Amino acid sequence: MKKRFAIAVDGPAGSGKSTVAKAIAQKLGILYIDTGAMYRTVAYACGKYGIDASQEDKAIAVLDQMQMQILPGTDGQRIILDGEDITERIRTPEIGAGASLVASYLEVRKKLVEIQRQMASTHTVIMDGRDIATTVLPHAEVKIYLDASVEERARRRLGELQAQGKTTDLETVQAQIAARDEQDMHRTHSPLRCAPDAVRVDTTGMDIPAVVETLLCMIQNKIK
Ligand code: DC
Repeated sequence: MKKRFAIAVDGPAGSGKSTVAKAIAQKLGILYIDTGAMYRTVAYACGKYGIDASQEDKAIAVLDQMQMQILPGTDGQRIILDGEDITERIRTPEIGAGASLVASYLEVRKKLVEIQRQMASTHTVIMDGRDIATTVLPHAEVKIYLDASVEERARRRLGELQAQGKTTDLETVQAQIAARDEQDMHRTHSPLRCAPDAVRVDTTGMDIPAVVETLLCMIQNKIK
């Protein structure tokens, strides 16, 4: 295989990006970078510092205040904020909605995209997000857009939340996902879209091992 390469994985909330990207990273022995976790960290930091994330200038100022460390590893990525491991704490629907909001601010995107590009410049990575193939790594060797019906994505997300011991229902989760799709696909800066040179994979009705297998074949064909 090539010395260093990049795999970009984009798609809407609940499309299975992180589970699949993590599994591929383990199989190929490359770094997995979850860019959504970085936007989630900004949203979490706003809450921590008592800042209303809907005030753009205040949310942007948080970027200079917070100390974020991203620690990629074989078991996935850990996020440290001001010396505290917040990896699990940012995985809530509320932080997801806050992340989607702060991700609409250009200055927030610029700063995080810079960090993401830096990480990819020194390692072979599989990076997931919303704008990886279109903006962050436009020269990535492999570009994948994962999709699934909103009903299926809601069912998967509900399962994850229930596994964390959270009580919610399918209707609520589906409405949250639909709202996030709307915000992520229609914002001004780097909206979520399938890059013209990306391969779109609809994972509706597919289980995780089948998606991983499909993508591994695709990657092996592209990277020789
Ligand atoms: O993938 P996720 O659910 O952890 O992402 C949380 C939010 O962050 C998502 O709704 C939109 C935003 N995001 C983004 O705008 N660009 C990325 N590369 C990753 C996430």
